[in-house]
Amino acid sequence: MILAAGFSGDEPCCDPLCGSGTIAIEAALIAMRRAPGTGRRFAFQKWPGFSARQWEHLISDARKQERSLAVRIEASDQDAGAVAAARENAARARVSIDVVQRRLADLPSDPGSGLLACNPPYGVRVGADVKRVLRELGDAAKGRPCWHLAMVAGEAAAAGARELGLAPVLRTQNGGIPVEVLVSPRADSGPGV
Ligand SMILES: C[S@@+](CC[C@H](N)C(=O)[O-])C[C@H]1O[C@@H](n2cnc3c(N)ncnc32)[C@H](O)[C@@H]1O
Repeated sequence: MILAAGFSGDEPCCDPLCGSGTIAIEAALIAMRRAPGTGRRFAFQKWPGFSARQWEHLISDARKQERSLAVRIEASDQDAGAVAAARENAARARVSIDVVQRRLADLPSDPGSGLLACNPPYGVRVGADVKRVLRELGDAAKGRPCWHLAMVAGEAAAAGARELGLAPVLRTQNGGIPVEVLVSPRADSGPGV
């Protein structure tokens, strides 16, 4: 979703409905150019043709491309448990993001540019008033007029996201629920789905 929204890592990113922090952490990893999977082991490392030397070379090459986080990555949620989980996950991923407990309606406006990315409650898995959250998201976007907006949305939220001017760029499933990824169009964005 973050890449589909055209995020390059050179601008701030904020997830105001962060839950356990996945989106903000991914944005930080992208901004730091940290290659996915550098810290884990893969099943193919046990294959007969696997070359440990070549693998080490690739990992070391990928690590050389890492840079420190130079943009602000922010995550917030109204729920104290979610905030604690997001902080824990960010520490485990070794990314320095700002995680605060805050209601979406209290998101401060920002005259700069950036990416507002989120995964609003679906109304199936998370009990919530999806329409109210989308209305608040629309208000938050008005306070950040030069920010792009991206979201993963279940059926109920996807209809509201279209009303916010977002266009679907891919369809997938999240926890068995059909979802769409919708983004606000950029001048250079390609065709949707
Ligand atoms: C579907 S979850 C987000 C999951 C998240 N992407 C993750 O990685 O875990 C939606 C989140 O929105 C939060 N939320 C719902 N309404 C909110 C509001 N009005 N203000 C702030 N957070 C809200 C919930 O507490 C929940 O954590």
